[in-house]
Amino acid sequence: MPRLFFALSLPASLSDALDDLAEGIPDARWALENDYHLTLAFLGEVPPGRRRDAEDAARRVRVAPLEIQLRGVGAFPRRPPARVLWAGIDPEPRLLTLQRRLCAELRAVGFLLEQRRFHPHVTLARLDRDVPRGPVSDWLVAHMSFGPRSFRVTRFQLLESEASSGAPRYRLLQSFGLFG
Ligand code: 2AM
Repeated sequence: MPRLFFALSLPASLSDALDDLAEGIPDARWALENDYHLTLAFLGEVPPGRRRDAEDAARRVRVAPLEIQLRGVGAFPRRPPARVLWAGIDPEPRLLTLQRRLCAELRAVGFLLEQRRFHPHVTLARLDRDVPRGPVSDWLVAHMSFGPRSFRVTRFQLLESEASSGAPRYRLLQSFGLFG
């Protein structure tokens, strides 16, 4: 069954800047440059007949285009060993509103979303448990003042995540314009 999620894709100019961060940690599985995104809602495996419900829910979201800022880097979990390295996105109120409204529309048609607090970020790398910690903490220090880099968001996307032996592969399914 396809694994679906809603996200904001990043413009090429910012992808270039993020790509410059993708070095210095042996064995890190860096995201591919064209795949950088900010996940808004992860649906998990969705039966083919339910994709339409997700798209209809997304069309009911009314939020005006917005400006968002990339700033700094961090790790999940906070305490070592880190498993995910990310670039931060300022939790700007209109971005939080977009994410909250999208999730509310999806829940209203029966999608069970995680209750975790939304922490806007762009995943840069995934790490196995045994990746040496020294280069990871050096990388976090070296890039902590990355940005700020702003970008305008006029649409969001429904994507499919396809498992693969390397980095996950993402396929654009549908795009939704922002208006409010
Ligand atoms: P990320 O946003 O931290 O990178 C597709 O898998 C996208 O959905 C990924 O970008 C991923 O994390 C995000 N995602 C959120 N919750 C997830 C989960 N429980 N399992 C897999 N991916 C998840």
